[in-house]
Amino acid sequence: MFEITAFDAPLGAEITNFDFSRDGHLVDEIVEAWHQHVILVFRDQPTEPRTLASIARIFGTPVRQPLQRPEYQVEGFPELRLLSSLHIDTLGDREPLRIGGSWHTDHSHFPVPPRATILQAIKIPEQGGDTCFSNQRSAYEALDEETRSRIDSLSAKHVYNSRFTPRRMPTITGDEGKKQPEALHPVARPHPDTGNRSIYLNPVRVDGIEGMDDEAAMALVNELMDHSTADEFVYRHKWRVGDVLIWDNRQALHMVHHDYAPDVERLMIRTMIEGP
Ligand code: SIN
Repeated sequence: MFEITAFDAPLGAEITNFDFSRDGHLVDEIVEAWHQHVILVFRDQPTEPRTLASIARIFGTPVRQPLQRPEYQVEGFPELRLLSSLHIDTLGDREPLRIGGSWHTDHSHFPVPPRATILQAIKIPEQGGDTCFSNQRSAYEALDEETRSRIDSLSAKHVYNSRFTPRRMPTITGDEGKKQPEALHPVARPHPDTGNRSIYLNPVRVDGIEGMDDEAAMALVNELMDHSTADEFVYRHKWRVGDVLIWDNRQALHMVHHDYAPDVERLMIRTMIEGP
């Protein structure tokens, strides 16, 4: 039987001795632990595509990857995507993309964003390449009452790449560009399973707040982001090859530190689970 041990951190727990063929049916225990801890790390998992595909099924239905580039694909697994630090912006300036290098929550421009993202470490640099996670439920709960009631009725507009983004997304053209959705989401978004609110912002995608001018909207986004990514809400994950990490996109922001040499490959496989 596997063991779940909470991290000494504002979020996260690790699962050791997990064997999918033996423990994969214990869905309720695993999902409950995930809601509580926001991120779970399954240690020492075989680095084969079917590991990630099997673990994903505990949490729901995987989303088909929205950007289809040959270098992202895993043969036979349309729900999986490779994320390599050596990938470049093939339709743009051909510079390295360094995906995920600022705080965000995945695909928040979708009307129903993926509830979860699952990542497995395949190759990691000897030093660096950690991913940080920030607990947005605790950050919301730590706000004073006046700020909570101010943001509870606000909705933000999320687009593929905001006018105010701190980093660019892969260049998209033609039909792919036209297909990208936009969505309005509550700034303090209630969790569909627990009802608890979390701050739900994404500086890469948020292009405005309904009823506010751009300057006031971005001042509020920056103020809330400064609060919600303070050290007291953050866990920093040092990857080991084989780690499979699942996070709740409705309760956490994440950011990779691309603080390793440009010619070193950091390779991950990712899948996402349909929301809400
Ligand atoms: C992502 O932002 O989806 C990727 C995170 C990572 O590579 O650690």
